[in-house]
Amino acid sequence: MKIAVVGKGGSGKTTTSAIVARVLARQGTAVVALDGDTNPNLGLSLGIGVEETERLVGMRQALDAAEGEHAADWDSLLDLFGSDGPDGVRFAVVSQIDNPEPGCP
Ligand SMILES: Nc1ncnc2c1ncn2[C@@H]1O[C@H](COP(=O)(O)OP(=O)(O)O)[C@@H](O)[C@H]1O
Ligand SMILES: [Mg+2]
Repeated sequence: MKIAVVGKGGSGKTTTSAIVARVLARQGTAVVALDGDTNPNLGLSLGIGVEETERLVGMRQALDAAEGEHAADWDSLLDLFGSDGPDGVRFAVVSQIDNPEPGCP
């Protein structure tokens, strides 16, 4: 199952995403959480911590600035750019979509 959470700033996207991800992971579901927000702070709500969240955000910013290699496939994305939260959620900060065309999702 894939769940996308979208909405205006301050509407509760990060909080909702983190709660759903953490509850599912605690129940034994394999969960991967991807943060593509312009304000990427989901790592904090997943319990990953300030330092590690900033490290992951820094890696995304480097890729956005064309510094470094993108992951070639799904598994290497998590290996290279992922981190595991305390409830077992696997987490990565991914590039934001700057100018979504109609039908982008
Ligand atoms: N269901 C809720 N009830 C009350 N406050 C909430 C709820 N969900 C989120 N908040 C609070 O609203 C603020 C914005 O939530 P956040 O998840 O950061 O929004 P977003 O990611 O959409 O910008 C935070 O202070 C958060 O604690
Ligand atoms: Mg948010």
